[in-house]
Amino acid sequence: MKVAIGADHGGVELKQDLISLLKELNIDYTDVGSHCADSVDYSDFGLPVAEMVANGEADRGILICGTGIGMSIAANKVKGVRCALVHDLFTAKVTREHNDTNVLAMGARVIGPGVALEIARVWLSTEFEGGRHARRIDKISQYENRVTGG
Ligand code: RB5
Repeated sequence: MKVAIGADHGGVELKQDLISLLKELNIDYTDVGSHCADSVDYSDFGLPVAEMVANGEADRGILICGTGIGMSIAANKVKGVRCALVHDLFTAKVTREHNDTNVLAMGARVIGPGVALEIARVWLSTEFEGGRHARRIDKISQYENRVTGG
């Protein structure tokens, strides 16, 4: 598995903790930034990570900003991306099983690094259940194709 990871200034510290987790799990990753604490725009990092997932350069994406909201809104504008904003372990597991989410967004000002790392661990290791859930996702993809003409 290859993961693309990005954060704005609100999430840059947590991004480093998540990168340490990816290394521990032997997961290949691309860090798109930001690389410092200066104020930046979450969309400049959320959109490239989402595009990497959409075009197959990465299998999954992880995005962190202050709340995770801006990142999740941006990522979900990219065709083929299903991004979940997650702040608890139950949702981390079920959004993989039911929604086959390929991007995880978290808010570094909402949860601490301990919870965030456990969420990432669960989200990275949980499989999609398919079946009736695949039918539901297909309907979203069909809608996406219809409105984008592709
Ligand atoms: C930046 O101050 C903050 O707005 C951003 O990190 C995020 O919370 C946006 O949704």
